[in-house]
Amino acid sequence: MIQSDLDLFGPQPQRLASHTVLLPGFALDVIEPLLDALRPVLRAAPFRHMQTPGGLNMAVALSNCGTLGWVSDARGYRYSPTDPLSGQPWPALPEVLLDLAGRAAGTAGFDAFVPDACLINHYLPGTRLSLHQDRDEKDFAQPIVSISLGLPAVFLFGGLQRAERTQRIALNHADVLVWGGEDRLRFHGVLPIKPGVHPRLGERRINLTLRKAG
Ligand code: SIN
Ligand code: FE2
Repeated sequence: MIQSDLDLFGPQPQRLASHTVLLPGFALDVIEPLLDALRPVLRAAPFRHMQTPGGLNMAVALSNCGTLGWVSDARGYRYSPTDPLSGQPWPALPEVLLDLAGRAAGTAGFDAFVPDACLINHYLPGTRLSLHQDRDEKDFAQPIVSISLGLPAVFLFGGLQRAERTQRIALNHADVLVWGGEDRLRFHGVLPIKPGVHPRLGERRINLTLRKAG
């Protein structure tokens, strides 16, 4: 058997927990259309640092597209139909992103996933995201689809209690991670991004998290 022949088929999906699947390189063949679709989104709704309910500046800069966008301010965390910067609805979810998220969810075993919210996170080298649960959505039966672009990250994937030990998952450019079902409320976070320059995205990591929020 010649190993390099097998490699032609690309890395295989990896099941990381009962309802969690890593799809290495799943977004590779749509990267350029995806970046083309994100440019006008980010012109209309630029990255910004939101305030935590406690009044701190979030380290991660963010934007959104979709009918709902995740926001944070002194009143707490929630989904909003409008961008607080512009007062306008968030830009529409690009078709290429809807399609990619639906295919990734389906490949991971979650059929008919139609997200209405895409959180766009921007990490510089040194930026981290502390352990948290995603619990601002209405229906926890819906999975989460997370697309990584640019610099690599180490994703911490914990249990249903904050104190449980975490697995470390390498998330590279174009990897897609899908989690749902009994894993939907697992704690997760991102270690500080290591300094580096990605050949396509430069000195940054961008993460797209698609959810059915409403
Ligand atoms: C998130 O939990 O909202 C983002 C996770 C990531 O950046 O990989
Ligand atoms: Fe999260």
